[in-house]
Amino acid sequence: MVRQSELEAIPLPGRMTPNRELAAAREDLITRTAPFAWIECDFGASKGKFLTESAELNPDVFFAGIEGLSDRVKRAMRKIERRGLPNAALWRGWGKESLDDLIPDQFLDTLHVSFPDPWPKRRHWFRRLVNVSFLEVAVRKLKPSGILKLQTDHLGYFASMKEHLATHGGWLEVPWKDELQRPVTEFETIFLAKGDPIGRIAVRRK
Ligand SMILES: C[S@@+](CC[C@H](N)C(=O)[O-])C[C@H]1O[C@@H](n2cnc3c(N)ncnc32)[C@H](O)[C@@H]1O
Repeated sequence: MVRQSELEAIPLPGRMTPNRELAAAREDLITRTAPFAWIECDFGASKGKFLTESAELNPDVFFAGIEGLSDRVKRAMRKIERRGLPNAALWRGWGKESLDDLIPDQFLDTLHVSFPDPWPKRRHWFRRLVNVSFLEVAVRKLKPSGILKLQTDHLGYFASMKEHLATHGGWLEVPWKDELQRPVTEFETIFLAKGDPIGRIAVRRK
């Protein structure tokens, strides 16, 4: 979860800091992913546990991360460097705008959004990441057969995600399990240890 001090640094929708560096980073991403036939993105990658472990387990796949908080970005980048991973990279970016700026259209095989901040209070729901306008960007970033994987411990948010998917209308549910080796995410570890229920849905472009 985001701490209060971190919250104050978060831009409000409508007052977004432009993710200017990301337009340039897109070129870097295109170059680095050129040797890879399969490309995934972990949005809200935090300190990079899922990103780096996925890259180690699946060396033929490129994993691109986006994370909003710079201290977490630095830690994730250090992990990538320490482990010498040629198939992982991470950029700082905020919101669906950063996904749009960094990732070319029809580029991703899989987009992961794992345990996005649930903003449980109704007056904060406008801050939730997964809504129809996020899905409009997500659907464009996926290849025609691309998959979006959403997971959350907040069952109210999970219900809302499913409503937004239905309202958007561009998705078909597919099995959660796929061919790749999938490590648990940092937050998943916490919720699994507590025995909390987890809502998971994988959908592909119609
Ligand atoms: C609850 S954590 C989950 C982290 C990770 N996906 C996992 O499963 O362990 C949510 C992460 O998303 C980042 N985040 C939240 N909202 C974001 C946004 N609008 N844009 C970019 N990153 C965001 C937070 O900084 C945090 O690192």
